[in-house]
Amino acid sequence: MTKMLLPWLMLAALTPAAHAQDAEAGRAKAAMCIGCHGIPGYQNAFPEVHKVPMISGQAGGYLAAALQAYRSGERRHPTMRGIARALSDADIADLAAFYERDGAAGLQLKSVAARQPSARVTELLTQGACASCHGENLDQPIDPSYPKIAGQHPDYLLVALKAYQVQGGRVVGRDHPIMNGIVGQFTLAELRMLADHIGSLPGSLSTVPQSRWR
Ligand code: HEC
Ligand code: HEC
Repeated sequence: MTKMLLPWLMLAALTPAAHAQDAEAGRAKAAMCIGCHGIPGYQNAFPEVHKVPMISGQAGGYLAAALQAYRSGERRHPTMRGIARALSDADIADLAAFYERDGAAGLQLKSVAARQPSARVTELLTQGACASCHGENLDQPIDPSYPKIAGQHPDYLLVALKAYQVQGGRVVGRDHPIMNGIVGQFTLAELRMLADHIGSLPGSLSTVPQSRWR
């Protein structure tokens, strides 16, 4: 019994709980986010045209980690760097709590049957052990600071995977030793196959339309 409880207690100690209070404060702060993250299908042009990621329903610990990485420059995307630079630690905690909770509506939107991966994609998923961290159906990460990736926009998934690549000894766009190592095992064509498959899976991420805010 004690043994089973321990990992839970450790997680609880490491991860600030998403308090309802923070989420309410986050709702007000999200006014500066909805112009992009509140419009389904909204596109961004850097480093190539792709859909802005769905963040409603994403793991709160991961949302906070991502915002901190933009703020510190470990993630180099210029628009999100500019936005994150203006955020305090409290802003980041509130926004993460808000967007994590905001996702509940997405669960119904995407409850379609999972598409079976091709034999080749199954090999790639096994080679990269993706589910060992991103969890069952790639939608239940084993740690709150790891992202859900199932059903995320495939063009964004590819942009994210490419950002973890290391070229000529330099990380392209995201310093993250775990994912830098993982994408290095794959060719661009393989990353594209992974992104297309993962993006086709049912998942709990969504974009909550902006009109819901009015
Ligand atoms: C001008 C459009 C725009 C605005 C405004 C904007 N974002 Fe973003 N956001 C993006 C784009 C584009 C990306 C993808 C960046 C990349 O490739 O790393 C992104 C990525 C993110 C990510 C990482 C998602 C992931 O899956 O890794 C988080 C978290 C995020 N934004 C939160 C916010 C929050 C919170 C706000 C408001 C404070 C905000 N964004 C405002 C365009 C925007
Ligand atoms: C050892 C754990 C681990 C494994 C194995 C792993 N990942 Fe990740 N992955 C992570 C972590 C942690 C992050 C968050 C990195 C960050 O904060 O930028 C991440 C981030 C990502 C992202 C970015 C998500 C976003 O919203 O921007 C994608 C896409 C991704 N992983 C896909 C994969 C795929 C595909 C595989 C298998 C080929 C894989 N991962 C294997 C831990 C892992």
